[in-house]
Amino acid sequence: MLVTSRSYAEYEAMFDLTELPASVLDCSAGGSSFTAEAAARGVDVVAVDPAYELTMPELVDTVRRSLPVGNDIVEEHEDKFVWHWYGAPERRDEMRLEAADRFLQDIGEAPDRYVAGRLPELPFEDGRFELALCSHLLFTWADTFDRDWHLAALRELIRVTSGEVRVFPLVLQGTGEPVAFLPEVLDELAGVRWEIRKVPYEFQAGADEMLVITHS
Ligand SMILES: C[S@@+](CC[C@H](N)C(=O)[O-])C[C@H]1O[C@@H](n2cnc3c(N)ncnc32)[C@H](O)[C@@H]1O
Repeated sequence: MLVTSRSYAEYEAMFDLTELPASVLDCSAGGSSFTAEAAARGVDVVAVDPAYELTMPELVDTVRRSLPVGNDIVEEHEDKFVWHWYGAPERRDEMRLEAADRFLQDIGEAPDRYVAGRLPELPFEDGRFELALCSHLLFTWADTFDRDWHLAALRELIRVTSGEVRVFPLVLQGTGEPVAFLPEVLDELAGVRWEIRKVPYEFQAGADEMLVITHS
């Protein structure tokens, strides 16, 4: 799986963020600069990802190699992507490179913000974060992780939050196909409310919705 580097601006659009609450988890944060940029805004923010088990040279190499591989996926499914949000492929590349640099600098300077861990078991106490964000893992990789894994992963994200969990996107990577088990998984969540909400971001054609789960 790719360890990609989306920026704060992309997270802001994907998750329709206005103001951030005091504490935020970026789950499956990979090489994103969201954590570095949110911390610079004074937020108590933690990134969690299994990739943080890698040594620094391995992580640098993995993050740097993800951009061209990610571009190959887009080229392979050219007709499934739209460019109105980025404007042009060059702009997207520029954002990814800047975000990767920012991430690699921040993890070097503030390693405590970056925790090695993997769903469906996260190393945080109940209700540790007001908001958890999960970009491009759940549903994106539904060909790798099955329905039961998704249910367990969502329950774990709910456990470690006191306010909301937001997940984007809700379609498979590459093809942008819907995930057949999504409604069933949502039906099985107990003690929470959920809604599928439109966001001001689209890259995979038609993937302009996030899942918002709120503690009742
Ligand atoms: C496509 S990247 C997304 C990175 C970042 N959120 C972004 O939007 O650019 C998917 C990330 O999920 C991480 N990952 C894989 N399995 C995971 C698991 N079980 N729990 C949490 N993260 C996982 C990978 O290491 C990778 O960094």
